[in-house]
Amino acid sequence: MLVVLKRNYEEVSREAARIVASAVRAKPRIVLGLATGSTPLGLYQELAALYRAGRVDFSGATSFNLDEYLGLAPEHPQSFHSFMQQHFFSEVNLPRERAHIPDGTISGNYDDYCEHYEEMIKAAGGIDLQVLGIGRNGHVGFNEPTSSLASRTRLKALSRETIEDNRHFFSDASAMPQCAITMGIGTILDSRRVLLLASGRSKAAAVAKAIEGPITSSVSASALQMHPDVTFLIDEEAAYSLTQRDYYRHVLEMTEQFTPGRLS
Ligand code: PGA
Repeated sequence: MLVVLKRNYEEVSREAARIVASAVRAKPRIVLGLATGSTPLGLYQELAALYRAGRVDFSGATSFNLDEYLGLAPEHPQSFHSFMQQHFFSEVNLPRERAHIPDGTISGNYDDYCEHYEEMIKAAGGIDLQVLGIGRNGHVGFNEPTSSLASRTRLKALSRETIEDNRHFFSDASAMPQCAITMGIGTILDSRRVLLLASGRSKAAAVAKAIEGPITSSVSASALQMHPDVTFLIDEEAAYSLTQRDYYRHVLEMTEQFTPGRLS
């Protein structure tokens, strides 16, 4: 695992954008796994700026989002469809027909729909680079604590913590969905490369457990310890509870010296 420590949110966002843009340049027909939430907003802004400057081209790319609230139509202002449209898809040239987000409006036959989402990922060649945030409870996607580490895309009941963290986005707090469709941890682990972004003290405990704690379904992000190519991009506040910060800096220096390809 590469743990890259940055000073603040802006640096995390800029470095994440550099990594994503360089992956797109290296493989124009890339399949990206995308995330929503406040954390990747800076990444999307940076990528939009790179696109406007002619430094990255998404015309060959395909994307799959991690999750969507159950019960929200794409045009609902709090849906992840709306989020992605507003913050990324309207700003870059990723073909809309190749930008996939789970459908929050399905009812019944959830298993069939979720299997179909998995099949679409497979048919596209699998995810090359998966962007993740992390919840205060260690979730990735909406894989709440005690999610199976082998889980696939499925309907998932949201935890009380997640509902509390996101309720304020809804004008009527009682309209906060209780469930979501989310890629599973197994789905995420199948991607070729994972980039997890974290910023702020509220994430420090989850980040420390994910990187330095035991692998446990109680902290879904700890499953990333089993992934062969994962980069954690963490700002100072989110790195607060990590005990091996000096070692991570040393690893980064050695990586820059001996295997810089891992950082591109
Ligand atoms: P946030 O959410 O980026 O809005 O903090 C992260 C997550 O819950 O995965």
